[in-house]
Amino acid sequence: MRFSDYERIVFFTGAGLSAESGIPTYRGKGGMWSEYDYEDYACERAFRRDPEKVWDFHDKRRAAVFACEPNDGHRIIAEVQRERPGTVVITQNIDGLHQRSGATDVIELHGSLWRVRCDREHVVRDDASVPMSPRKCSCGAYWRPDIVWFEDSLDQRNLRRAHELLESCDLVVSIGTSGVVYPAADLPRIAMRSGATSVEINLDETPVSALYQHRLRGKASEMLASMR
Ligand code: OAD
Repeated sequence: MRFSDYERIVFFTGAGLSAESGIPTYRGKGGMWSEYDYEDYACERAFRRDPEKVWDFHDKRRAAVFACEPNDGHRIIAEVQRERPGTVVITQNIDGLHQRSGATDVIELHGSLWRVRCDREHVVRDDASVPMSPRKCSCGAYWRPDIVWFEDSLDQRNLRRAHELLESCDLVVSIGTSGVVYPAADLPRIAMRSGATSVEINLDETPVSALYQHRLRGKASEMLASMR
């Protein structure tokens, strides 16, 4: 199974892809949600209750991600994209490492750590400051990280585009995701139903492993290299 056998490839990525860059995953040992309660840091209710606390948490994440570099896994994906223009990345990651590795067509299902928005003025902008400053928009409201937090809905345009791309791809490669967060976890199924070849890359079995035709067990960068 080689990338060169396919024309329209979708890489569907999760936190395990960035783990080799030193960014902690969300679940499992050392996972973000075993250290932090999302109800205090990653939902709209927490932000309304205590925006400063939520921003302190996101500033810490910005600083941690800023200090990390894309790894070989990100680089291989960007290379495949350059060689095969029909290739897209649909990511659950908010770290921006795909873009930093040179990937171009990246759908960020869960938003980005590097974008902020003002829900009062309906403005969204890129912001790479660490720490993010100032925390308030000129209208007086707090900027909000443009991230899909728990209990938020996904952006419908992103979701529609993801559906279309998955319906027409010939290979879907799911990488480093636990497959437990919906609706994202359902997306690879669209490609499978449409007849695409499916590959799961993960260190371990996941609740959705059985759906995939091919299961590659190991580090994302090494498994991606084996498909070059
Ligand atoms: P998880 O933390 O739930 O899962 C990470 C997966 O990566 C696990 O299945 C690991 O076995 C696997 N993994 C870890 N290191 C790996 C490596 N080097 N190579 C290959 N696989 C590896 O992360 P996600 O599935 O991405 O939401 O989590 C989904 C969403 O839940 C995230 O987008 C996040 C979170 O709440 C937001 O940030 C909005």
